[in-house]
Amino acid sequence: MQVELAKSAGFCFGVQRAVDTVYKQIEENSAEKIYTYGPIIHNEEVIKDMEKKGVEVILSEEELKQIESGIVIIRSHGVPKRICDLLDENGVRYVDATCPFVKKIHRIVEEKSRDGYHIVIIGNREHPEVMGWAQGPATIIQTEEEARVFELVPESEKVCVVAQTTFNYNKFKDLVEIISEKRYDIIVLNTICNATKERQEEAYDIAKRVDAMIVIGDKRSSNTQKLFEICSNACADTYYIQTLGDLNMNQLRSVETVGITAGASTPNKIIEEVQNNVRINF
Ligand code: F3S
Repeated sequence: MQVELAKSAGFCFGVQRAVDTVYKQIEENSAEKIYTYGPIIHNEEVIKDMEKKGVEVILSEEELKQIESGIVIIRSHGVPKRICDLLDENGVRYVDATCPFVKKIHRIVEEKSRDGYHIVIIGNREHPEVMGWAQGPATIIQTEEEARVFELVPESEKVCVVAQTTFNYNKFKDLVEIISEKRYDIIVLNTICNATKERQEEAYDIAKRVDAMIVIGDKRSSNTQKLFEICSNACADTYYIQTLGDLNMNQLRSVETVGITAGASTPNKIIEEVQNNVRINF
């Protein structure tokens, strides 16, 4: 049997950086309590390992307000500006592991809104990375309908459009086109991160060629769910697993080629384990 592992499988640069930051803090500050604001990644295995090493996940702003000492690590999605301000006001040390690509959006939004631009963020309004950095009016647009009804008041305002890093590029282009037709004074900055697009394209490419495809990632990870959807469209025998334990080897008995990819929050250790076991068993 031939096994093909996607080169882009697993941690993206930003997630790797955030995970490394937590382990570095554990090592360098063993006497201090380490917190992460929200789970650092959507992966149970990694979170459990960090918890074993004493890291505590803070789930709400209320909980965050109670912290008086220790180190808080901000995850790769970033946080609204008010969270950083709150930590500063309370004198709590924090390490910002926001992915530089997300940080770039925050910087643009903050600067351009200060320069009088109405900010339009094309993305999912539930996503933490799009919230809380505008210093003036801001609108989140996710659908064509929302783009159509979008109206600047007053009309003379300037508009700056950015995208959530993981937003689909084609959809972004379509929504920008609808907004551009309104002939406002507009600047558009494509802030989409290519890591997601490259992972999805490679997964689709492999899934088209193989008999069975394995997608590894946490069930709650939206980027892994998306990968599974893409691979399923190209290969009917696509399996979504969290760890090797979920893989039913019998399902692979009659296939000759297997492709493997993994979501942005899947550690290398889990990917290697799956890859090696599929190889050994066939
Ligand atoms: Fe950053 Fe892109 Fe990953 S924005 S967190 S490198 S998906």
